[in-house]
Amino acid sequence: MNLPPHKIEELISAKDLQDRVTKVVDDITQQLDDKPLVIVGVLRGSFMFLADLVRELHPRKFHPQIDFMTLQSYGSATVSSGNVNITKDVTVSLDGMTVLLVDDILDSGRTLNFAVKHVLNKGASKVLSCCLLDKPDRRVVDIKADFIGFDIPDTFVVGYGLDYDSHYRELPYIGKVVFDD
Ligand code: IMP
Ligand code: MG
Repeated sequence: MNLPPHKIEELISAKDLQDRVTKVVDDITQQLDDKPLVIVGVLRGSFMFLADLVRELHPRKFHPQIDFMTLQSYGSATVSSGNVNITKDVTVSLDGMTVLLVDDILDSGRTLNFAVKHVLNKGASKVLSCCLLDKPDRRVVDIKADFIGFDIPDTFVVGYGLDYDSHYRELPYIGKVVFDD
């Protein structure tokens, strides 16, 4: 691993993630009607959270279309570059659809802000947003998600889909990156 020496300290356990996902899905379903739904995951960080969310939607009789788009605002650094680029767009038609955007973490807010505008431009009639984690102290763009799993402090985290230079996405828990002195 070509990264500065560091450790990962568990911040949110796998059990706490699963319990919270169930509650978030309860909240989401309260706000959905019977109009057709498209769930759009922001790659790559949302893949694990989205997979857990949709499996909880199934027994509640929601059968969304699912698509992904790839947005990038980070290089290999742990600080946002400020620009959001779209490198893979959705292919499912969003015209007139209710869209639930799913992302891993709300940090500066630039990514979610870009994603909401993008799906509205593609004709979505209603957009709801759901982020697993929120770092409210880091906000640059004034935006809130409709559904949040956990508020966390201003610290760099990995696991459950989130990465540090493409490492650690596989962790079943959320961990904090602690750099050696
Ligand atoms: P924003 O555009 O600054 O809100 O950043 C959102 C994106 O930055 C997320 O989708 C993540 O991919 C990435 N990001 C922000 N904070 C972290 C973190 O602590 N760990 C890993 N990725 C992060
Ligand atoms: Mg991301």
